[in-house]
Amino acid sequence: MNNEIEQVALRAARAAGRIHLKRLSRITINRKSNSIDLVTEADRESEAAIIDVIHRAFPTHAILAEESGASAHQSDHRWIIDPLDGTTNFAHGYPQFCVSIAYERRGRVQFGVVFDALKKECFIAQRGQGARLNGKPIRVSTTPNLCAALLCTGFAYDRRERRRFYLCFWEELMTRAQGVRRTGSAALDLAYVAAGRTDGFWEFGLRPWDVAAGAILVEEARGRVSNMDASELDLAGANIVATNGRLHEQLIEAIAQARPEADRRQAEMLRETKASA
Ligand code: IPD
Ligand code: CA
Ligand code: CA
Repeated sequence: MNNEIEQVALRAARAAGRIHLKRLSRITINRKSNSIDLVTEADRESEAAIIDVIHRAFPTHAILAEESGASAHQSDHRWIIDPLDGTTNFAHGYPQFCVSIAYERRGRVQFGVVFDALKKECFIAQRGQGARLNGKPIRVSTTPNLCAALLCTGFAYDRRERRRFYLCFWEELMTRAQGVRRTGSAALDLAYVAAGRTDGFWEFGLRPWDVAAGAILVEEARGRVSNMDASELDLAGANIVATNGRLHEQLIEAIAQARPEADRRQAEMLRETKASA
């Protein structure tokens, strides 16, 4: 069974990757809920291709996919799909995007694949069997503290409205860490923690398809993933912290430290916006 899951997931990821590469040279952009949330033909086409591969192999499994939503029926088996993570990068031809597919059984993710077709990097993790990049085992970094750490973060699509909130955490971590990056693909951000390329990642307001595969990659690479208060990651309300494990408490503590000021500045901004309306 496990082997079949892996084979189907890889087939689906490769099908999506081929569409990414084909579409990269002729991109059609549409806007979603607000002016910065984009969707391209590549998002839709690759999602359809992934679902087609999964349905052919497992017609009764449930699906949660970014563009088409959740399947109507319930099942113990569910696939969580982001057909193109890093759409803004993709739309600009910036080379940082991927497909992310996770397989969940009875509410627990068992397998994840994050595939970057452009760089030909395929990250996979199977519960209890470690994580691999192009077939080779990967492990998180051994960086022991924040001041030596390269961190990564992202900003959700409400970033214009909540900019002061998000920037407080950026400011705090910029002061404490060796460096902070914002790459524009949460799934690759998590895969990079798993591969030891970065030491930690945090982001507010992610969706299940952004993190389901990346989180198992980090766990299976011997890292740690949690909600921002260190409790077990809730995929539905993904405010995520993922680290090499050694830094986990430090990153959570830094985020907690910045939180009151973030809330205060955000409330202040709301008051200013109302007053000027
Ligand atoms: C986005 C990316 C980005 C993150 C956003 C996500 P999308 O996903 O993962 O890095 O900061 O919060 O929504 O829209 O490119 O699939
Ligand atoms: Ca995404
Ligand atoms: Ca997406």
